[in-house]
Amino acid sequence: MRTVYLNGEYLPENEAQVSIFDRGFLMADGVYEVTSVLDGKLIDFDGHAKRLERSLNELGMQKPDAFDDLLDIHRELVRVNEINEGMIYLQITRGAPNDRDFVYPDPETTKPTLVLFTQNKPGLADSPVAKTGIKVISIEDQRWARRDIKTVQLLYPSMAKMAAKAAGKDDAWMIEDGKVTEGSSNNAYIVKGNTIITRHLGNEILHGITRAAVLRFAREAQMQVEERGFTIDEAKEADEAFITSASTFVMPVVEIDDHTIGTGTPGPISARLREIYLEESRKAAI
Ligand code: PDD
Repeated sequence: MRTVYLNGEYLPENEAQVSIFDRGFLMADGVYEVTSVLDGKLIDFDGHAKRLERSLNELGMQKPDAFDDLLDIHRELVRVNEINEGMIYLQITRGAPNDRDFVYPDPETTKPTLVLFTQNKPGLADSPVAKTGIKVISIEDQRWARRDIKTVQLLYPSMAKMAAKAAGKDDAWMIEDGKVTEGSSNNAYIVKGNTIITRHLGNEILHGITRAAVLRFAREAQMQVEERGFTIDEAKEADEAFITSASTFVMPVVEIDDHTIGTGTPGPISARLREIYLEESRKAAI
């Protein structure tokens, strides 16, 4: 059984309990982060901590008292749960006042809820799926307009994923005003020649921590990067496509809306970027 963290305590997972009045439960009033673990170490912890702080600020949510101890808490969970490869899920909600109310509770009396748990995923880095690639469908982006804040309102992304599964595919790329925003839980990219194209940052997408690292490594490797929106038609004609996230790293996409991309197998740039990303991230892990 896992040991999880809840509001200052390390507990067996079946003993960690949150109030029915918690605003995460009633209002999806919460933010989260997913940090990957390789070789028992955290990948890009600082990036995730910074984005978490930004999400809290954007929502006017107070930091939990333990905010400055988050690195230690992550490490302790990795240690006690003996995680070599996997993820740490962290969630902060606006806490649990004693009733349901649209008005935010007084932060003096209602403290945020802080939860962390581990997800053990042996073989995460050496995923067989990375060698064959994934298939995606496109779907209208019907999420709210502040996708740059990493909130726990994940119903639409979950519906998008189910639509992909129903079509016999792996994931969905979301479209707004004719351009791809991102994947259900990842950033989306296409490759043309030596150029990597991915949507520019803004409120329309989550500013992926993996995205930032991958674009940095791509530029260092003399690849061209264009940060701009692209259409599904452009994507279908691309030489390669891939997604990035903390749980998939760089994952090749070999089919979009039943249209085969490139040769139908992971392309050289996607494969190379995955290799560089894993190598550099392992080196920098803490
Ligand atoms: N999802 N876009 C969306 C909508 C996401 O949910 C995620 C991450 C990303 C990639 O961000 P990062 O590289 O920082 O993981 C982009 C996480 C992994 C999840 O919800 O499980």
